[in-house]
Parts: sequence; structure tokens; C-alpha cells
Amino acid sequence: MSNSILFEAFQLGRISLKNKVVMAPMTRSRADQDHVPTDIMATYYQQRANAGLIITEGTAPSPNGVGYARIPGIYNEQQIAAWKPVTEAVHAEGGKIFMQLMHTGRVSHPLNLPEGSTILAPSAIAPANTEMYTDQEGSQPIPTPKEMSIEDIKEAANEYVQAAKNAITAGFDGVELHAANGYLLEQFINPGSNQRTDAYGDSIDGRSKFVLEVAEQTADAIGADKVGIRLSPGGAFNDVNPFEGQEETFKYLAQALGKLKLVYVHLVDHSSMGTPAVPTSLKELIRDEFGGTIIISGGYTRESAETDLAKKLGHLVAFGRPYLANPNLVEKIKNGDSLNDPNFDTFYTPGEVGYTDY
Ligand SMILES: Cc1cc2nc3c(=O)[nH]c(=O)nc-3n(C[C@H](O)[C@H](O)[C@H](O)COP(=O)(O)O)c2cc1C
Repeated sequence: MSNSILFEAFQLGRISLKNKVVMAPMTRSRADQDHVPTDIMATYYQQRANAGLIITEGTAPSPNGVGYARIPGIYNEQQIAAWKPVTEAVHAEGGKIFMQLMHTGRVSHPLNLPEGSTILAPSAIAPANTEMYTDQEGSQPIPTPKEMSIEDIKEAANEYVQAAKNAITAGFDGVELHAANGYLLEQFINPGSNQRTDAYGDSIDGRSKFVLEVAEQTADAIGADKVGIRLSPGGAFNDVNPFEGQEETFKYLAQALGKLKLVYVHLVDHSSMGTPAVPTSLKELIRDEFGGTIIISGGYTRESAETDLAKKLGHLVAFGRPYLANPNLVEKIKNGDSLNDPNFDTFYTPGEVGYTDY
């Protein structure tokens, strides 16, 4: 394919990306039981540093936000120290790396949380028809979360801010706030999971308030040019579903995030994974209201990426599953080589098999 836009360099805030390929955030559960990154994670990310930008797997900003077995955190000194070899390895290859901050909120299980933590959410509503895997007892029903008090909300915002500072200390080029796929920030946005009647619910600005406070405070702490955000408008993961008035909600959010001058909005469309397609008009609305860099993601191939970049639907394109079994993805898609299929059985299992052995 000639006239590639995908392999051109791109200026993202103050950092230069060597191409427009982004590695999408993917949970791989290779941290240890205490949520500390392991050595093989540096190898894994280094192997994939051909992307212009890597976004790490969802990483917990606080013990309350861990949710899953063996996902990494960034809330203590041990974790900060263990992430340093990851950022050094990626930078040694000329890559850039943002950390995705993922507080799982109600998508959680007590067996997966450090002692003394609490499962928190905007309202005391468990996600329906969703189970959570635990190392101890396999799949378990998800319990009803505690409705966050105003104090809990302030504390959670402070945890994001501290986590962002910790990420910078660990050498990351920035952070991505995970406000997609049904985790804590999206639980506030969506009226199905947020039935509060106070200032943090009830209306578009109420349901957006926590997300915008976290975005603003994080940007104040480390610089707006180091803070991106992921949104999944119309998504249907973790029982956070499309809702009436979502266009107005995402229009409001995109505009407000633009005013905060966040470095990018990362849009998720998981229709290639079986959820309803996100209307192109909604993506364009968010792009136009935000006014800054847009990362598009979900089901992309080289061809569809070039097409959507040419149409200016977004500026950068994230690839998820293709990166799992093809560490040298950029070279492969440049050459038109066929891609290895990922093995679902090793997505979240400990160790190197199906992780660093491709
Ligand atoms: C194994 C796996 C883990 C994932 N974990 C995360 C995650 O931690 N955070 C997130 O925002 N999305 C996560 N996703 C979604 C991907 O970032 C991406 O949006 C999705 O795979 C669709 O893109 P693709 O078609 O290029 O794979 C995950 C996807 C997979 C396959």
C-alpha cells in the first residue's frame, strides 16, 4: 500500500511519536499477587516498542481499584520501582509509553482486593450478569458495591492524582484515564450505574462531574499535555449500556475535556467484539467538540486504519489483539505479512507462555 499515513511521525503534546500506531491498553495479569509488576513485563513492552505510543494495561491507582487478580498497581513505592525497568526498556527502543489508570469500581471481588480495601461505586448497584474471576475460587458473583460518600469521592480523586505523579516518577510519558468499558469513571457517567441525586449524579453535568474533576486535578498535577482519556460512548461492557441522551452527555464531556486541553481522547468501538457499533456521527461529534488529538480503536487493520486516518476520523490508531501474538506488528503490517492469531487461553495466565514467547 503506498501513501501511508499510518507510519508518519506525530507530535503528541511535547513528545514525538515515530509513527501513528498505538498499542491499545490490554490487561494481561502478569503482575504478582501483590499487584507489583514482574520482570517479564519489561520484556513484553520492549518487544512491542515499535508502536509510536504504548498504552499500558489498566493499572490500579489505589487498593480499592484493583478489581482483578494480578493486575498491576501504581499506589506504592514497590510498584513505582518495579515499573521503572518497563519505561526504560521502551525508551531504549525509541518508544513512548503512557500508563492507563484503571480504577475498577464495582467491577471487582473482595478476593481480588488487598486487605482493608472496599468495593466502591457511585451507587449501590452491582453489574448484572457479570462474574469475576478469582485465583482462589474461580468465577464468583460480583457483590453489591458501597455507594461512595462525598469523602470517598474526594479521596478517589486524590488517588488518581497521586497515581499520576507516581507514574511520572516511574518514567512514564503520561497517563490515560480509563473512563471507558464500565469501570469507575464510566460508572459515574452512565445513568444505569449512577443513580445519585446529589451533585455527582442526576444530570449531565452531575454525572460528568467526577470525571472532569479527576481530569482537571490530574492535569494540574502533571500537566495537561501528559493526560489523555479513554471513552467508550455507546459501549456495553460490564453492564454499562447505551442510554437515552448519550449524545448530549458525550458532547458536554468532550467540550469540557477540550477546555482542559487534555492531550488526547481515545475512542473505543468494540463492535468487532460483539457490542453495538458506535455511530460514526457520535465519534465525529466528540472529535469536533474536543478539538484535540483523537485516537481511534477497535477492530482496525492496516487498510481500515489508513482509510479512517485519511477521512480524519482520528489522528492515531490503536491496535489491541493484533499486538498480542505479533510483537513486531509495525514491521509486519508494513510488509503485508500474515499475522499470528492470539491464544485466548493465555490472555490472563501468569508466566511467559503466550506473553513474551512469540
Ligand atoms: C486481553 C485484552 C485485555 C484488554 N484490557 C483492556 C484494558 O486493560 N483497558 C482497556 O481500556 N481496554 C482493554 N482491552 C480492550 C482493547 O484496548 C481494545 O479496545 C480492544 O481489544 C479492541 O481493539 P482490537 O480490535 O484492536 O483488539 C483489552 C482487550 C483484550 C483483548
